Amino acid sequence: MMVMKSQIIETTLLALVAIATCAPSSNKPPFLNLITKQNDKLYFGTATNNVQLNDTAYAAILDDSRMFGQITAANSMKWFDTEPERGHFTFQDGDVIRDLAKRNGQLLRGHNCVWHNQLPDWVANGSFTKPDLLDVVKTHCGTLVGHYRDSWDIVNEVLNDDGTFREDIFFNTTGSEYIPTAFHAARAADPHAKLYANDFNIEGINAKSEAYRNLIPQLRKQGVPIDGIGIQSHLIVGQLPTDMKENMEAFTAIGLEVAITELDIRMTLPETEELLEQQKKDYATVIEACNAVKGCVGITVWDFSDKYSWVPGSFAGQGAACPWDENMKEKPAFFGIVEGFLG
Ligand SMILES: *[C@@H]1O[C@H](CO)[C@@H](O)[C@H](O)[C@H]1NC(C)=O
Ligand SMILES: *[C@@H]1O[C@H](CO)[C@@H](O)[C@H](O)[C@H]1NC(C)=O
Ligand SMILES: *[C@@H]1O[C@H](CO)[C@@H](O)[C@H](O)[C@H]1NC(C)=O
Repeated sequence: MMVMKSQIIETTLLALVAIATCAPSSNKPPFLNLITKQNDKLYFGTATNNVQLNDTAYAAILDDSRMFGQITAANSMKWFDTEPERGHFTFQDGDVIRDLAKRNGQLLRGHNCVWHNQLPDWVANGSFTKPDLLDVVKTHCGTLVGHYRDSWDIVNEVLNDDGTFREDIFFNTTGSEYIPTAFHAARAADPHAKLYANDFNIEGINAKSEAYRNLIPQLRKQGVPIDGIGIQSHLIVGQLPTDMKENMEAFTAIGLEVAITELDIRMTLPETEELLEQQKKDYATVIEACNAVKGCVGITVWDFSDKYSWVPGSFAGQGAACPWDENMKEKPAFFGIVEGFLG
């Protein structure tokens, strides 16, 4: 009897261990990517970083393609990491993210080719002639998109809030010519990649989103291959624009694909029950807006756990912006996402 009993226990334990190691058993429905796809979108995704991939509680959620159908490298495909010296490409960090997504059956979003920030010193402090810098941009974008393919944020944050061009090293040296150069190089490297312009403060109808609606058709008329607009959506609890749906419709009306690419909704700390409830409503509002617009193809959160959010490091006194808390527990915001899809 004793033998049999212990055998049964042992068999049961082995079965449990097998379940625990094969399936992400910590996760239970609702599953955000499954719900998103049931609503005719392509994916629900998240940004992630190399440094946190050995956090097993975090990784169990990240790796579950029922929860996330798409991955963005938050940092490791940026210029400083991929071309630290001119012509010397380093894909190690980015490849870890690419391989993870591939292993999990998740889509990859490349982020980003050209941005004024997180540049290596040789670009940020270089002195280039216009043809030379255009050549640098062409090589960088062509090489990155050729290596990673899939969807890409080709240019990031090229406009100011008033709709004028951002006066960074690229604009100061080439005018706006670096933009067509970047997109053409990307298209040449992968004819099937979805090529996006990506920016913040274009969630509602305003000078900046209107400026993109003028600029992109102009560029397309000149043959510049731009497929979509990435609406970053780093938002603030209780302060959402009221015309997000109309704004997305205005983008799809000019033939652009729309994606919510970097969603988080921050609050002034400490978090309170009231703030968390408002945050839940705000997440639902964003999801509802995307879900109501056919050309809004997917939603990506800018990491899913408060443990790894960029917010506290960038906005003093603010945080708690993600749908999962620091202990990988779903917050009201998580259920707000689910409710947003119910309408
Ligand atoms: C994961 O690895 C990084 C880098 O090697 C290390 O700094 C960090 O402490 C590790 N985190 C965990 C949760 O093991
Ligand atoms: C560019 O040079 C300035 C002044 O020497 C320095 O402070 C800055 O960190 C450099 N930029 C980068 C990206 O290295
Ligand atoms: C670009 O030019 C503007 C206007 O002259 C200047 O304020 C800005 O610092 C320049 N930016 C860079 C990165 O050189």
